[in-house]
Amino acid sequence: MTAAAVVGGRAAVVCAVGAALPPYIVSNADLTARLDTTDEWIRSRTGISQRHVAGAALSTTDLAVRAGAQALADGEPVSVEALVVATTTPDRCCPATAPAVATRLGLNGIPAYDLAAGCTGFLYALATAAGLIVSGTVRTVLAIGADRLAALPDPEDRRTVPLFGDGAGAVLLRRGSEDETGALGPVVLGSDGTGADLIRASRFGALHMDGSEVFRHAVDRMTTASCQATAAAGWELGDIDRLVPHQANSRITAFVARRLGVPDDRRLSDIAETGNTGAASIPLLLARSAADGRLKPGHRTLLTAFGAGLTWGATTFTWPGLSAAATPPKEAGHDW
Ligand code: COA
Repeated sequence: MTAAAVVGGRAAVVCAVGAALPPYIVSNADLTARLDTTDEWIRSRTGISQRHVAGAALSTTDLAVRAGAQALADGEPVSVEALVVATTTPDRCCPATAPAVATRLGLNGIPAYDLAAGCTGFLYALATAAGLIVSGTVRTVLAIGADRLAALPDPEDRRTVPLFGDGAGAVLLRRGSEDETGALGPVVLGSDGTGADLIRASRFGALHMDGSEVFRHAVDRMTTASCQATAAAGWELGDIDRLVPHQANSRITAFVARRLGVPDDRRLSDIAETGNTGAASIPLLLARSAADGRLKPGHRTLLTAFGAGLTWGATTFTWPGLSAAATPPKEAGHDW
């Protein structure tokens, strides 16, 4: 499915980003001390060197609040009219995360809801945010991806523990016009429930994943969705200045870039520092890349993601050059 991101010339325009990482870092060396694995195995198979872990100190709500606050502080002052949190690891089954996040951000009273689409959650959040904006329902939406995936695996499982980290990222969208820099292009979304068992967890500590099947689907789905989103935007694949893929595994994202014909120096990555942070990974990578200059105003940017469900998605926009470009992801402390 391709969700139209422009109605009557109205578009959703990216106007601020924010991100938060827990301060506690687990290195590969920390893992080799307690699991039958090596730094070399983890880095060569995944590209991961370390991950930030929230543990018991920070909740998904805490991380989402911190990322949202950074986006609101760094963007131009706007009044946020709706908030969506994409997460697969909410603090509670009920109620949703978003109302508490809204209240703690001083936005009490606005519509606020969660959605779950695995590691594709942030793209689903962007699509619903854009829908609210272009339909004329609201003028501004804060879209947050927040996950604590490090808590999902069995702590003894060497096949899954090294892969995951915790974090949150946020993007503020406002109503604008389709010809503005930062206007979101059409959003391609899809799902395939026949693959529901390939990544599944009934509770924290009970993650099951069929790694090689997931790898194959991730490459195929992100490549296809990327081609569709690029075409829907009226771009050629050669137009892409920056590929911002969900940080599942650096080998997966390298395959996707190769299949798309996107040169490797245009593929952004921060998985070495963060591991797979689920719905947070794309906005985290946007914030980090804007801060360190890999993402510059005018860059034609392609986002793509894949995750449990199975789910996948992709969209495009031109990086607008935000004040947040000076701000790297913040570490979330206990005061949040
Ligand atoms: N350290 C050392 N050995 C490990 C290991 C670790 N951390 N994890 C697995 N192994 C072993 C396996 O036990 C297996 O050994 P065996 O052949 O004796 O049984 C061997 O390495 C190969 O395992 P396999 O699962 O085939 O490895 P792989 O090359 O497919 O890599 C993943 C495993 C998980 C890194 C890879 O499949 C992957 O990245 N999949 C996608 C994961 C993902 O992105 N999920 C989220 C999607 S949003």
